[in-house]
Amino acid sequence: MTPRQSCTAPIQEHIDGVIHDLLVSFPDPEQLSPDERRGIIARYTAVLEGNFIYWMTAAYLSVASEEAHSVIRDNLLEEVRDNHPGMMRKFAMAADAFPTDSDALAVHRNLHNVRLFVGRLSGVKILLMMAFFEGFISRFMPYLAELARRQGSAEQEYTEVHGVCDVAHTQGLFRALEAEAALMDYPLTPATNPLEGVEVLLALIQNIVHPRIADQIHLQVNR
Ligand SMILES: [Fe+2]
Repeated sequence: MTPRQSCTAPIQEHIDGVIHDLLVSFPDPEQLSPDERRGIIARYTAVLEGNFIYWMTAAYLSVASEEAHSVIRDNLLEEVRDNHPGMMRKFAMAADAFPTDSDALAVHRNLHNVRLFVGRLSGVKILLMMAFFEGFISRFMPYLAELARRQGSAEQEYTEVHGVCDVAHTQGLFRALEAEAALMDYPLTPATNPLEGVEVLLALIQNIVHPRIADQIHLQVNR
């Protein structure tokens, strides 16, 4: 570990733990009804298709360091060039899980909260949120693929691409975070609440998977 990496290592480890706790809270796909499986795919699609590039763009607009701009630019280029929103839509349609108005409304409040947070353009906090997002996505792909498979779909391009590329993206975003925090002299300590964006996005992801109990669940971010 280089001295530069060591500054973000504890927070990276913490976020890994948050992702782990989140994933183990998910219901076994085998125990879900077809409608519950469809709902998870649909709400995930309702959030991802139209917002991922928007939030990554907000990250780009929020940061000041050259390293962070370069990392996010590469990420955005891949999203746009390879039509990831189209890939997401194709995945949902093949599983007969294209989002309805009810699916979109089920995540409305938590999605709105993330948009309000993102709109504040806080570079370090958005980078942390997106690193959490990419890390979560890559580890969520086997679960999402399993849901689709049980819905009778053989379409797996989205889950295969994101299970692989988001691992490198997560590492890139932590590199960007390191550069940004150093340039802005931003202490990654509880005093600055750097995990604020992680908390609002965590609530949204819980809402995607546990639509009825999302309001009661509170996985501890600051363990
Ligand atoms: Fe993507």
